[in-house]
Amino acid sequence: MDKTLNVVELFAGVGGFRLGLEKANSDVFKTVWANQWEPSRKTQDAFDCYMRNFSEGIHSNEDITTVSDEVFQQLEIDLLVGGFPCQDYSVARSLSGEKGLEGKKGVLFWEIKRVLENSHPKYVLLENVDRLLKSPSKQRGRDFAIMLATFRDLNYIVEWRVVNAAEYGCAQKRRRVFIFAYKKDLDFADKQLRFSKNEIVFKEGFFAKTFPVKLEPYKGRESMHELPLDILQISDEFSFGFHTAGVMIDGKFFTAHTEVANESFIPLKDILLDEDKVEEKFYLTEAQAEKFAYLRGPKKIERTSATGHKYIFSEGGMSPTDDLDGPGRTMLTSEGTVNRSSHIVEVNGRKRFLTPIECERLNSFPDNWTAGMPDRMRYFCMGNALVVDLITKMGKTILDIDAEENVTSEQIELLI
Ligand SMILES: C[S@@+](CC[C@H](N)C(=O)[O-])C[C@H]1O[C@@H](n2cnc3c(N)ncnc32)[C@H](O)[C@@H]1O
Repeated sequence: MDKTLNVVELFAGVGGFRLGLEKANSDVFKTVWANQWEPSRKTQDAFDCYMRNFSEGIHSNEDITTVSDEVFQQLEIDLLVGGFPCQDYSVARSLSGEKGLEGKKGVLFWEIKRVLENSHPKYVLLENVDRLLKSPSKQRGRDFAIMLATFRDLNYIVEWRVVNAAEYGCAQKRRRVFIFAYKKDLDFADKQLRFSKNEIVFKEGFFAKTFPVKLEPYKGRESMHELPLDILQISDEFSFGFHTAGVMIDGKFFTAHTEVANESFIPLKDILLDEDKVEEKFYLTEAQAEKFAYLRGPKKIERTSATGHKYIFSEGGMSPTDDLDGPGRTMLTSEGTVNRSSHIVEVNGRKRFLTPIECERLNSFPDNWTAGMPDRMRYFCMGNALVVDLITKMGKTILDIDAEENVTSEQIELLI
């Protein structure tokens, strides 16, 4: 069957979603529209990188909030993807009352909602920091509950899972929550509805098929709940920290703390360049080495709070250099700078930063994907990006799901 799936990529960065999906099958996944805009920056390095690496489809470099509804109405979208910031998603009654609800201004999740309302894609795949499941700290889980209710009201079933890339065959400990939503009128939804929510989370669902887990929750942590019907009530009152996995159907959700079934990772040493290819500028100067020894060492420092109260800030020590036999730690946008979070590797007795190419490898991007921009921006873009191989795995599951959509019994006979 010559099926294609039209993809729209929001908050596209340097194109991690698109690359991952194309690695799964570039004949089927066709990105028809992609948007990337770095606020308050003259240079648009991520967008330029996207343009260098991809040619097909429309590439928009504008603030997504300024793109009109008509643009989305004209697109036929099967799959919407995007990694969006974790923000405050609270809602309030609009001043004029009759206009309904108003989300906080500048919140980018409402842009995702707007695309859904205007184009009704079959599938949605989103990525965010795992903190989203518990935020804000004073009303745990409220923001995620608002997202779930938004999908409920638009007739989607939602599954979510926190995935640590280093547990599923990748080189970086990067824990991110992935959210997969699908329309309730799909055959796949029909099939899922035959299972219990527990079976979906542990065995049969999108994430269970892609990233297998042990069949029991960690320390028995699981529970079943129902979202209040009124999203305003959720915004005002909801407080519940979601577990690492779950499914929501018609506002009822089951959530559990899952554990990887068979852990596997790529050790840091396997993604390092040959030392003769590492430029001198990446090796630490004596002053930098000293600064790192301090930053990564244990410390107890007296500090004064804004109210004048004195307290002792203490921080445990970490190993002076990163373990080459383990996976890399989480890469941040400040990677490559003198900062406690930057990786430092010691090879042949010399300490150095990771190079931008090695950072691309930590995210399973091809070498030199971000070449052409300053090193500082290459690190920044990789800190923002995602682990591409995880998207490839999820892309393959979407292909399996979609291959069975609307297949008539005659077509099944022809396939046999
Ligand atoms: C977490 S990053 C996503 C990275 C991407 N998944 C990748 O593989 O590179 C979020 C992106 O959203 C972009 N962004 C932030 N505000 C935006 C806006 N108002 N309109 C469009 N893009 C925006 C940022 O520049 C950033 O590249």
